[in-house]
Amino acid sequence: MQFSRLVSAAAFLALSAATNITIAQPGVPFVVNDTLPPSFAFTDGASIVDLFLNVDSSTTWNLISKTHLQGDTGEPEGMVRVGDDRIFVSSGQYTVATEKYNRTINGTDRTAGAGYAHMLVYDGQGGLIANATLTRPGDIEYHAGGIDYDGRYIWIPLAQYRPNSTATIVRLDPLTLEVQRLFAVDDHNGGVVHDTIADTLVTLNWNARNATTWSFKDYPSSFAPLPLFTPPEIDLQNPSFFVDYQDCKFIGHHVLPSQLALARNNPYGGQLRPLMFCSGVATITSGDSSYPLGGLALVDLETATPLWEVPIGILSDLGVSIAENPVDVSVVDGKLRVYFIPDQHNSTLYVYEAN
Ligand SMILES: *[C@@H]1O[C@H](CO)[C@@H](O)[C@H](O)[C@H]1NC(C)=O
Ligand SMILES: *[C@@H]1O[C@H](CO)[C@@H](O)[C@H](O)[C@H]1NC(C)=O
Ligand SMILES: *[C@@H]1O[C@H](CO)[C@@H](O)[C@H](O)[C@H]1NC(C)=O
Ligand SMILES: *[C@@H]1O[C@H](CO)[C@@H](O)[C@H](O)[C@H]1NC(C)=O
Ligand SMILES: *[C@@H]1O[C@H](CO)[C@@H](O)[C@H](O)[C@H]1NC(C)=O
Ligand SMILES: *[C@@H]1O[C@H](CO)[C@@H](O)[C@H](O)[C@H]1NC(C)=O
Ligand SMILES: *[C@@H]1O[C@H](CO)[C@@H](O)[C@H](O)[C@H]1NC(C)=O
Repeated sequence: MQFSRLVSAAAFLALSAATNITIAQPGVPFVVNDTLPPSFAFTDGASIVDLFLNVDSSTTWNLISKTHLQGDTGEPEGMVRVGDDRIFVSSGQYTVATEKYNRTINGTDRTAGAGYAHMLVYDGQGGLIANATLTRPGDIEYHAGGIDYDGRYIWIPLAQYRPNSTATIVRLDPLTLEVQRLFAVDDHNGGVVHDTIADTLVTLNWNARNATTWSFKDYPSSFAPLPLFTPPEIDLQNPSFFVDYQDCKFIGHHVLPSQLALARNNPYGGQLRPLMFCSGVATITSGDSSYPLGGLALVDLETATPLWEVPIGILSDLGVSIAENPVDVSVVDGKLRVYFIPDQHNSTLYVYEAN
């Protein structure tokens, strides 16, 4: 019923066949003033690094705000704040659940299931502005993972919803919600960041076990035309099993404090490194019981090495680990703010500040 004022705007977007956009607030631009701001993660990057290196397991997280997001959000997977008054959320709508095989078939462990990937655009009060469908009926790659905004585009991995499968890397224009499919990957990809300085993309696979890098230096000649797979330039195993990263943000290239090397034996202390900020969860099992462990991490993009990792034990009001899925980060009045959307279907944006 709350969707009765939705108007289909697909006709306005003849250019992008794969995107069907439902407008919830007619006349309201997807980006404030139709002007793309730089990404917070990038403008605040140096302060994010400084402040996050002071966060540890005893840090007090103060709740700044809780904003209910309108409508059925499905499974939120990634978020980016584009300016102070716009939140873009990648989300999965699942119409047929995947089902575990009892053995490995075609390298994977479950059926494909079915569904659609969406990009939901919200205003700062949690009002839905638009709901874009990024996939076509029957598309097997209907899972939209963790996303990144680089000041121009939002990068999204559309993947099969099962390990050891396939993905297509796409970018969405926040001004029009138009989607451009760029290249295909011979693995599930659940997250992506754009290193705008090196002009590389780093993607993470199922449970972020591997990080793969593609360079745009020779784009498009170094990329195979769709639907052929393009192999990555670099394929690295993630050395950390602490939490499985779900959503990451590129935060620039920064010189790490040299005392990191001395006090923490961190190999990158004092060096200029390409960095991303990630949230993630791990399910810790003991006998018949299990619980979710949430965590935040500063990760070196070139080596996939976590440089700083902290657990975060906060649960949503619905009992879900706060670090489940979407995360974004910024600095407000000299303090680190982290944004989370943990719950499925009935979602709330939680904003916490590290004290
Ligand atoms: C949008 O435009 C209005 C009117 O020109 C201006 O006051 C406001 O600061 C702008 N907002 C942003 C986020 O650029
Ligand atoms: C977006 O649209 C899909 C149907 O295409 C629907 O299932 C989903 O609930 C919508 N999301 C919101 C937040 O309205
Ligand atoms: C896996 O095995 C269970 C129990 O034998 C069976 O009920 C289920 O249908 C099997 N699943 C598949 C996808 O074959
Ligand atoms: C395994 O892959 C083959 C070749 O692509 C395909 O024909 C077959 O249907 C797949 N099996 C399953 C269970 O998906
Ligand atoms: C995916 O492939 C890797 C490497 O071949 C294998 O170790 C892993 O068990 C596979 N995962 C699943 C869920 O099939
Ligand atoms: C993960 O990285 C390791 C080490 O580089 C590599 O051997 C393995 O094939 C990679 N696995 C996948 C699924 O890319
Ligand atoms: C939605 O979640 C909030 C807590 O975040 C809860 O108070 C509310 O009752 C839920 N609404 C529905 C319809 O389940």
